[in-house]
Amino acid sequence: MSEEHRQNPMVPYLGKLVEIKDMAAEIKLFRVELLNGGREAFHAYQPGQFAFISAFGQGEAPFGMASAAGDPRFLEFAVQRLGSVTTGLHELGVGDIVGLRGPLGNHFPMEKFKGKDLVVIGGGIGGAPLRPVIQTVLADRVNYGRLTILWAARHPSLLIFTDEFDAWRAAPDTTLHLTVDRPDEHWTGPVGLVTELLEKVNPSPENALTITCGPPVMIHFVSQLLEKLGFLPEQNYVTLESRMHCGIGKCGRCNLGEKLVCVDGPVFTLAEVGRLLEPV
Ligand SMILES: Cc1cc2nc3c(=O)[nH]c(=O)nc-3n(C[C@H](O)[C@H](O)[C@H](O)COP(=O)(O)OP(=O)(O)OC[C@H]3O[C@@H](n4cnc5c(N)ncnc54)[C@H](O)[C@@H]3O)c2cc1C
Ligand code: FES
Repeated sequence: MSEEHRQNPMVPYLGKLVEIKDMAAEIKLFRVELLNGGREAFHAYQPGQFAFISAFGQGEAPFGMASAAGDPRFLEFAVQRLGSVTTGLHELGVGDIVGLRGPLGNHFPMEKFKGKDLVVIGGGIGGAPLRPVIQTVLADRVNYGRLTILWAARHPSLLIFTDEFDAWRAAPDTTLHLTVDRPDEHWTGPVGLVTELLEKVNPSPENALTITCGPPVMIHFVSQLLEKLGFLPEQNYVTLESRMHCGIGKCGRCNLGEKLVCVDGPVFTLAEVGRLLEPV
C-alpha cells in the first residue's frame, strides 16, 4: 500500500479496463487490471467483499467483486446501468481508467461453508457477488457438499453469467435451477418468482447453509420461506446492497439497526439482521 493510500482510505487506486462484455440487458461485465499499488491491496480479497469504483467526472459507487481472487492482477465487476455513475461506467471503453477503493466490508466465511450443502439464491444483478462463491466451491469441489443454485431474473434478457451455466451444470453434485418472472418467446424454463422455485426445489436444511443476494423485497420473502422450510436464522447468509456514501464506517448512511452494512457487512446471517429486513 502506498503512503498516500495508507494515510487516506478515500484515495482510489487506478485500474485499466481490459475487457468489457455485454452480459445482459443494461448489464456489463468489466475486467479491470489493477495499477499503482492496487494489486497488493486487493491480492487477498475474499468472496463477498466489494469496492467503490469511480467513473471520473461522474462519481463513485459500490460494487460487489464478481470474480474470485485468482490472478491478483485482475478484478471483475458486473454493473447494471441505473443512474449517473453506472451510466458513466457503461460509456467507458477498453483502455480507459477507473478508480477503485477497497477491498471493503466483510466476506462469506468460505472455511465455515466447507463440508456443508450450499443453496445459493441469486436475483438479477444480485447474482454478481455470489459468482465468487460458486467459483470458489467449483475450484475446490471435494471440500464442499451439494451445491444448489437458484438463479432468477425478471426477464430472460436480465439473466447474468449465462455463458457459465453449462459449466455449473456439469460440475459434480451441482444443480442449477432457473426462473424468470416474465418469459419471452424462446423461454422454456420455469416462470415465477424465486420463492416459488425455492418452494418447489424444497432443499433440506440438514447440514445446509443458504446464501442469498437480490433486491430487498426478494431477500425478505426468501427469508420468510426459508424459515418455513425449516432453516434456522443462523443457517441463512445474505449480502446486502444498502445505499452507501463512504464505505468505511464514517458517514452512517448504510446503517441497519446498530450495524453499518459497509463495515459490519455486507454479509450477515439472518440471526443478525433478519428482523430488520422489511420489504420496501
Ligand atoms: C455492497 C454493494 C454491492 C453492490 N454490488 C453491485 C453489483 O455488483 N452490481 C451492480 O450493478 N450494482 C451493485 N450495487 C448497487 C450499486 O452500488 C448501485 O446501483 C449504484 O450505486 C447506482 O449508482 P448510480 O450513480 O448509477 O445511480 P444513482 O444515480 O445513484 O441512482 C439511480 C437510481 O437507482 C437507485 N439506487 C441507487 N443505489 C441503489 C441501491 N444500492 N439500492 C437500490 N436502489 C439504488 C436510486 O434511488 C435511483 O433511483 C451494490 C451496492 C452495494 C452497497
Ligand atoms: S457508507 Fe458510510 S458508514 Fe457505511
